Amino acid sequence: MTDPHAGAAEATGEEAFDIVVVGGGPAGYATSLYAGAAGLSVAVVEKQKVGGTCLHRGCIPAKEFLETAEVYRTVAGAKEFGVQASQPTVDFAVSQDRKNKVVDQLHRGLSGLMKQRKNKVFEGTGKLLPGKVVEVALADGSTTRLTGRHVVLATGSVPRLIPGFETDGKYVMTSDEVLSLTSLPRSAAVIGGGAIGCEFASMMSDLGVQVTVLEALPKLLPGCDRDVADVVVRSFKKRGITVHTGVAVHGHEPSGDGTTVSFGEGQSVVVDTVIVSVGRRPLSDDLLGEGTGVEMDERGFVRVDEWMRTGAEGVYAAGDLVATPQLAHVGFAEAILIVKQILGEPCVPVNYGAVPWGIYCHPEVSFVGLTEEDAKAAGLDIVVKKDPLGGNSRARILGETDGVVKVIAEKLPDGRAGRLLGVHMVGPWVTEQLGQAYLAVNWEATPDEIAQFIQPHPTLSESFGETVLALTGRGLHLG
Ligand code: NAI
Repeated sequence: MTDPHAGAAEATGEEAFDIVVVGGGPAGYATSLYAGAAGLSVAVVEKQKVGGTCLHRGCIPAKEFLETAEVYRTVAGAKEFGVQASQPTVDFAVSQDRKNKVVDQLHRGLSGLMKQRKNKVFEGTGKLLPGKVVEVALADGSTTRLTGRHVVLATGSVPRLIPGFETDGKYVMTSDEVLSLTSLPRSAAVIGGGAIGCEFASMMSDLGVQVTVLEALPKLLPGCDRDVADVVVRSFKKRGITVHTGVAVHGHEPSGDGTTVSFGEGQSVVVDTVIVSVGRRPLSDDLLGEGTGVEMDERGFVRVDEWMRTGAEGVYAAGDLVATPQLAHVGFAEAILIVKQILGEPCVPVNYGAVPWGIYCHPEVSFVGLTEEDAKAAGLDIVVKKDPLGGNSRARILGETDGVVKVIAEKLPDGRAGRLLGVHMVGPWVTEQLGQAYLAVNWEATPDEIAQFIQPHPTLSESFGETVLALTGRGLHLG
């Protein structure tokens, strides 16, 4: 690793900091908190509220509403447990209010923490100029310039739109608008069956909305292992969600309260609302002045190397602004990597092939490492073991047996299972169970090593232990 301090320019702007961070989302605030904890002086330029998409328009609000759906399902299914409750109804204005309270509390907590770490927040829009200068158009209309020994660009992303489906405040929405609703539509077409699409489809359907998912690729959750995606699709269909895969959407024709979405070969669906969830694009518009040396790719992502370094000395970029998995915790990891380099501490690049993924639809999905399809496409010789949750006692107790734990290991020359390459889970609370699988894959552990450890019983997490035990050649419950 090169010395990150080498050649650092002296601060020359109106206000000088060790680090100037542009963007106060997960990558930006993780940079400022971690650097502040190490005693570095940090300025954060944020045009809205610190916390970014994750806290205000993404992960946290979406998961909060998914929890509303969970409460609804629990009450609706109470009778089966001998608990008499009347059929629940939803007052989404109350749900929205609760979500806002959760977000506000977390926002206040984060702002307080940044203050404690002596991070200085500038409310405004930052633009990088040459010489590690950030020009800030402040919220009050004035302009200031900040200079950093280092600059971190972390301006995040916004929902991507498709032609013919521009947001219009009435029929077409993205996650930004859905998360601000105070009442639910009667019906919705969700365009894009990725992480966001499946979370919204699941939440809305559970709360009584008639949902149709329109996905361009042949399967929902295209990045997920096929067995996992299949469980989600089966559950969706059982709950009345209509799923069309391998279809192109052509446009929509509003009439009165609803709109007709045309797709596929002459097919259409009439809905109150269209939700576009076809990915997010980097928010790099007007971020770079002339001659900064920072490069962008053709999609607008800032180009970085594995150390998050841009083409300009001392300027880094992280989070959704760079072409790495668009996950808050990946932004955190990239931020820590940057600060460690600035501090001259030993560090290693993020291993993007083995980051933890969590999708909070019902049933939940979590995974780390290679899917079976990826491993085969890479020509690897593998052993695969699956434990359907029907045999898990805790899943039976919960009445939530739609799910599977699937472990992919490399095949040793003697045919036995070696190093774990991927773990894929679908079922209740699997986003909370990925931890040990994440460690195992990243530690390059083998089934023999992992099987030494005891799993608490009865738990959902036993399924991972059981699958790994079976991979040693002899399982308890799993063959
Ligand atoms: P995504 O990339 O996960 O899924 C977009 C989906 O839309 C894909 O399945 C794609 O094939 C489909 N698509 C694209 N164009 C289409 C078209 N014209 N018609 C029909 N389908 C089309 O993006 P998504 O769901 O919008 O999420 C954005 C980012 O946020 C992702 O990178 C995701 O990882 C992240 N995210 C993570 C979550 C989590 O970790 N729980 C939750 C939500 C989002």
